[in-house]
Amino acid sequence: MEDTGPGQGGAERLHCVVRFSEKNEPGYDYGQSDLQNLNNGTMRLQIEKLNVFVNGYHILKDVDLVVYKGEIHSILGANGTGKSSLAYTIMGLESYEVRSGRILFEGEDITRLPVWERARRGITLAWQEPARFEGLTVRQYLLLSRRASKKGPPPEEALLRVGLEPSRYLDRALDESLSGGERKRIELASVLAMMPKLVILDEPDSGIDALSINFITDSIRLFAKLGASVLLITHHEEVAAMADRSSTMCGGTVLKTGSPDEVARFYRLHCRECEHVNEPEEEVARNV
Ligand SMILES: Nc1ncnc2c1ncn2[C@@H]1O[C@H](COP(=O)(O)OP(=O)(O)OP(=O)(O)O)[C@@H](O)[C@H]1O
Ligand SMILES: [Mg+2]
Repeated sequence: MEDTGPGQGGAERLHCVVRFSEKNEPGYDYGQSDLQNLNNGTMRLQIEKLNVFVNGYHILKDVDLVVYKGEIHSILGANGTGKSSLAYTIMGLESYEVRSGRILFEGEDITRLPVWERARRGITLAWQEPARFEGLTVRQYLLLSRRASKKGPPPEEALLRVGLEPSRYLDRALDESLSGGERKRIELASVLAMMPKLVILDEPDSGIDALSINFITDSIRLFAKLGASVLLITHHEEVAAMADRSSTMCGGTVLKTGSPDEVARFYRLHCRECEHVNEPEEEVARNV
């Protein structure tokens, strides 16, 4: 059943459809036409039928997701649909217990590896609520981040990239005297300094004023240009639109993957004004 057609809005939009079409089946939409520029389709992250429990709750359900080398992949979804949980599970946080399925990074199974080993292999997460590191200056923090790979820019350049004037910030303490938006930008600068292979950005645009959002999107483009893959979690369709491909989540599962346009349209029709968030109608559509 086609569920994204323009004629299906209005009164009928409250019924969303979970699509479980398998890879290589008709109907499984990887946005293939957009993949030609993505390093010949080399997979960097591959998530297969992942089921995750936290404190006994089934949080992620049969999640399938592929992120290619150099791809920006955005994830749209309402509150509580499992976006941050997916980010934490990829990063390997302990309380996220994988009961079935697997996570492959550059073709190797990392499902059971600890956080530090995933970080060593090149996976980095920028948190939805950035951490404070009392006792460190911004300069020390950025230098430490850069030491991990030596591939990223020095502290001054990393700050300029996120729109912060180095002379005003380098010697500031990384504590609560920085505003929320400043801390988010400094955290993004630290990820730039690290220049990992896979960057997971959990709402890098939240708390950022409209004028400064370009610094965030420019930094994201820089990651991809230098060959990193970006998993970009956001509530903003305009930000999700900068991606090569998009997915939308509901009820702990990926409802749809495709081009950002297509996924945004699906999200608008089925999710934005949904009255049963996290309780998607289960309808298997194998022969779309
Ligand atoms: N430790 C926990 N114990 C119980 N439930 C949890 C726990 N952590 C997450 N959840 C639940 O898992 C679901 C997914 O949460 P998650 O934080 O991943 O959502 P999200 O999509 O990131 O939402 P938001 O857009 O608000 O950031 C929510 O219903 C949340 O309450
Ligand atoms: Mg979240």
